[in-house]
Amino acid sequence: MMGERTTWNNNYTFLMAMIGSAVGLGNIWRFPYLYYTNGHGTFLIPYIIAVLIVGLPFILLESSVGLKFKESIINSYQKVNNKLQIVAWIIPLTMFLIITYYICIVGWDLIYFFLSFTKAWGPDPNTFFTVSIAQSNTAFHFVPLVGIAILVIWALIWFVCRKDLNDGIGKASNILVPLMFVIMIGIVIYSLTIPGASIGLQEYFAIDWNAIWDFNIWLAAFGQIIFSLSLGMGVILTYSSYLPDKTNITKNTVITIFANCGFELVNAIGIFSILGFMVLSSGIPFDQLIVEGTGLAFIAFPQVFNVMGTGSHILGPIFFLCILIAGLTSLISMLEVVSTSIGSKFEFSRKKATTVLCLIGFFISMIYATSLGSYLIGIVDSMLNNVVLIFIIIIEAIVFGYIYSLDSLLEVLNENTLFKVGSWWKYCVKYITPIILIILWIGGIGAFIFTSPVSELIIRGIIILVLVVSAIVLYLASKKYNKSEVNSLN
Ligand code: PHE
Repeated sequence: MMGERTTWNNNYTFLMAMIGSAVGLGNIWRFPYLYYTNGHGTFLIPYIIAVLIVGLPFILLESSVGLKFKESIINSYQKVNNKLQIVAWIIPLTMFLIITYYICIVGWDLIYFFLSFTKAWGPDPNTFFTVSIAQSNTAFHFVPLVGIAILVIWALIWFVCRKDLNDGIGKASNILVPLMFVIMIGIVIYSLTIPGASIGLQEYFAIDWNAIWDFNIWLAAFGQIIFSLSLGMGVILTYSSYLPDKTNITKNTVITIFANCGFELVNAIGIFSILGFMVLSSGIPFDQLIVEGTGLAFIAFPQVFNVMGTGSHILGPIFFLCILIAGLTSLISMLEVVSTSIGSKFEFSRKKATTVLCLIGFFISMIYATSLGSYLIGIVDSMLNNVVLIFIIIIEAIVFGYIYSLDSLLEVLNENTLFKVGSWWKYCVKYITPIILIILWIGGIGAFIFTSPVSELIIRGIIILVLVVSAIVLYLASKKYNKSEVNSLN
């Protein structure tokens, strides 16, 4: 809004930043479990369909809005209609809440990175994680080690995000994203050479055609694509707003999707092979080894490293480093959405917005550096992903599909490309995606209401209340702060 908008140094940097955002914890520790529990190879069918009818259309949508409006997410919604700002504020606020717990998981990973050199978790990684790291089995108290790890991660993302776009996010992505791919491919190649890899591969390539009729695998596929491709949260919109006019969006979109989905599919081959090694050496069946999230990274993998020979002293740190990089590059993209929203509405410089947000975020994330941390992360994460995130994407489809005109966005999409986007895209954004997402959304809310204990429902209710009240407060504050700015946009 103030003067010329910065642009990426080149298209490559933009791509690295986009891929860095997409490839995150979701790819490394969420995907293998989802894949396994939802029909193995059969999962690829709903997965590919989800890419085609939600992933591809929505990246195209967000990129075209970013490229056309060249604004933060808040200002983009405001350009469509002034009143939409209140709903729009929910997006950076949700993103901010996600950062505050995502950073705790990356903090745990940092701790494990250091522990892995000597396998300091000892012979029982399960007890070690719950008792010594998360300390979740005791009365409520602060866990200083996790607090320090979170502080270090906040300092790192502050260091990157406070700098100018190309010097900070651009440079970090250019270095870290290729490094992450090299590490992942190295791990996969190594894992294929260890004994037992074939047991894992059999699991990976198994097909269970009956699974295709199970509604849940469809839900899982759509949920994974939304989270993994960072859809709906304004990252793609914000990053695309720094693109020069003559950009080939379709090419960038296809590359981002291939890189993100390729990463999780190939990475899972490595994870499965390594677990296959564990089946062979310990006799524990595969289905007991493959678990989700923290269980996989901080319990199952340390168990594997324990039975592995010298190779594990290298494989361990490299594995945790890969998660660390994936987490950091996703975190910086999340913070960028929030800081540009604040910056564009309150005329904060990038440095000031980043610093203020990192300080506030640090204090909020200390809730997770307590013995309640992992319990709360589970509740907040499922609430934000299954309910709020899907709601936001439905709204996005309505705002740009119905209130704004998709035809003018289609022009932007087709301006600089040989592969023209057809009207199928408009059907997806207007009808198919919202219908599927509404079904998912109702299913998600229903599951919460019928299966959660009252205490969890209360926590989820508080989250909604905080989001709505904060959105209204920020809207009113920004209106007061900059009346002339609001007028000049209309
Ligand atoms: N895509 C990231 C992951 O897979 C998460 C993310 C969501 C990042 C939304 C930015 C915005 O972990």
